Amino acid sequence: MPGHNGEHDYGYLELFFRYFKMENSYKKLLEGNERFVTEKLSVDPDFFTNLAKQQTPEFLWIGCSDSRVPANEITGTKPGEIFVHRNIANMVVHTDVNFLSVLQYALEVLKVKHIIVCGHYGCGGVLTAMSQASMGLVDTWLRNIKEVYAKHEEELLAIEDMKKRSDRLVELNVCEQVKNLAKTSFIQQAWKSRSVQIHGWVYGLDTGKIKDLEVKVQKPEDLDPVFRYDI
Ligand code: CO
Repeated sequence: MPGHNGEHDYGYLELFFRYFKMENSYKKLLEGNERFVTEKLSVDPDFFTNLAKQQTPEFLWIGCSDSRVPANEITGTKPGEIFVHRNIANMVVHTDVNFLSVLQYALEVLKVKHIIVCGHYGCGGVLTAMSQASMGLVDTWLRNIKEVYAKHEEELLAIEDMKKRSDRLVELNVCEQVKNLAKTSFIQQAWKSRSVQIHGWVYGLDTGKIKDLEVKVQKPEDLDPVFRYDI
C-alpha cells in the first residue's frame, strides 16, 4: 500500500501484524500477574490469604495519575501499606466527592497516621496549566493549578529558566494542596483526637528521588482563621 505523504510504505501483512501486536499488548499484564502470584507465593505461601483478611495502611497517598509515579514502587512498600488516591497533578479539590470520600474513609475507618501529597517534576498537568493550551474538560481541572500560579506569579516570573519555573510551580502546587487538605473539616475533625501528619513531597522522574518539602501545616492554627472549623 503506498504511504500517505510518502513517509511510510507498509505492506498489508506488516500492517496486520502491527495491529495484531497492539491489540494483544494487554496480555503481558495478565502474564505479569501470573508471575507476581508465583513469586509472592514462593516467598510466603500465606501472602494473599493474610492480605485478604484486612487492610491496615498507615499512609494515605495523594499522587499524580502519571504512570511513572507508582506509590508502592517508588517507596519500596508492599500491597497493604499505602491507601492511594491519584488524579491529574495530585490535586486536593474541596468539591471533589471522590477525593473527599477517600479522605474520610482513610481518616475515620483506616485511621491513617500520615497523609502524603506527592507531586513530580515535569508534571504534564502543571506544564499545561502554565500555558494557554485548551484541552477540553481537563481545562476545568487544571484551572485549580492556574489559581496557584496566579497566587505566586511574582515569585514564578522572577525565575527566567522555564524548566526551573515549572519545577517551582510543581513545588508550590504541592504546598497549596497540603493547605487544601488542612482546610477540610475531615482532617480538622481527626486533629481533635489524634495526631495526623501531612507531608508535601516531590518526586524526580529523572533521579527517582523524593524531595521532602517539609511543609509545616500540622494543626488548625497553621491556617488562616477563616478556614478553621469550630469542631
Ligand atoms: Co503529573
